[in-house]
Amino acid sequence: MVRIVLFLSAVLVAVLYAGQSRGAGTKGPMFRDGGNPHNLSITNTGVNFKATNAADPRANQVCIFCHTPHNARAQTPLWNRADTTQTFGHYSSASLSIHKDATARSASDYLSEPNGSSRLCLSCHDGVTALGAILRSGFDTSAIEVNGSDLTVMSGTHVFDRTKVTNSHHPVSFKYTTDVVARLNTLEGPGNSYTLPMDSTSNARGFIKLDRDQRVQCTTCHEPHQSQYKDTINNPPLTPFWVYDGSGLGTVSPNTVHDEVCLACHNFVSPNP
Ligand code: HEC
Ligand code: HEC
Ligand code: HEC
Ligand code: HEC
Repeated sequence: MVRIVLFLSAVLVAVLYAGQSRGAGTKGPMFRDGGNPHNLSITNTGVNFKATNAADPRANQVCIFCHTPHNARAQTPLWNRADTTQTFGHYSSASLSIHKDATARSASDYLSEPNGSSRLCLSCHDGVTALGAILRSGFDTSAIEVNGSDLTVMSGTHVFDRTKVTNSHHPVSFKYTTDVVARLNTLEGPGNSYTLPMDSTSNARGFIKLDRDQRVQCTTCHEPHQSQYKDTINNPPLTPFWVYDGSGLGTVSPNTVHDEVCLACHNFVSPNP
């Protein structure tokens, strides 16, 4: 767990997050409070990036940055963003079986690039694609002005480049099925075993999502509309845009709410790598 958590400079992020508040507890696409960094509309407050052209009616909209306006409530979300042009590769490490073991790799179908909805995240978080570059809103396909320019891209610690995807953040876009779990358990042994969320005893098991292909994606851990648990202790938060609100836990704290998500799949017995 340490590996995942230690990447940010606390000082820099404390500055970035100053004055920001985050909501918690309500499931679904809500952008209730000021300071939600995924609300890029002009009226938001306390965020680093938002629309700035008051003459553009699209600047007042929230969903438009990710979904096409007429389909924002469709059952299958229709993305309103062009694909990222970057190549990222995939996370690998000496101990990552889904990468190095041929059987685990083919069962998990661990491909070379992040796929599915993770690509939507990367179309803003790549630090290359303009934040306001949307595909359509009616006949208007021009970018929405963000921070004074149509070309503004994300900068700072939240940018995901190749190094971050291949070395630091959690692996994504692999299938997590009964077969994969069985292979991992054969390879790893009881000290570091795996379960499918639905078979685990974790209180977070009902909150963790695999996609239609049973792949782990960014949305396995992150709920991109509204964090379900507000971490008021750590800067940066341990539970940013978190899928799980802590319900069912005896002790609800940033650490327990964070760890309960990991424990839905990992059974870390020995000290973490
Ligand atoms: C920062 C990007 C982003 C913004 C902004 C955004 N969404 Fe989403 N939305 C997503 C992603 C990603 C998913 C898919 C979640 C998944 O994979 O299950 C999604 C899924 C949905 C779904 C399908 C059900 C669900 O929650 O998974 C609905 C409905 C939805 N969004 C509505 C909205 C509405 C309404 C707004 C504006 C108030 C909005 N979204 C703003 C990224 C966004
Ligand atoms: C429309 C652009 C856009 C998309 C698409 C997008 N993000 Fe973000 N995200 C942002 C911005 C802007 C920030 C704030 C960056 C900053 O302040 O430096 C942010 C911040 C975050 C944070 C940190 C929040 C916090 O409270 O500390 C997380 C986690 C995150 N995004 C995850 C995701 C995930 C997961 C997806 C895909 C499901 C996604 N983002 C898609 C624009 C986007
Ligand atoms: C296994 C769970 C998990 C998955 C999958 C995951 N994250 Fe995270 N993410 C976390 C945790 C935990 C944190 C907070 C601690 C930290 O910063 O490492 C975090 C922090 C973040 C942040 C804020 C800090 C930073 O490093 O930028 C962003 C942005 C983010 N995630 C985006 C993403 C994107 C994009 C993806 C998919 C490519 C993704 N996450 C996949 C667990 C996950
Ligand atoms: C949906 C299931 C799932 C969830 C939830 C999950 N993981 Fe994972 N994680 C995996 C799988 C599967 C692997 C790949 C294991 C392998 O191939 O050796 C993995 C890999 C990792 C690795 C890389 C290990 C290596 O050998 O390089 C770390 C570190 C990790 N997870 C930590 C976490 C943390 C911390 C959390 C909670 C924030 C978390 N995981 C949540 C399933 C999950």
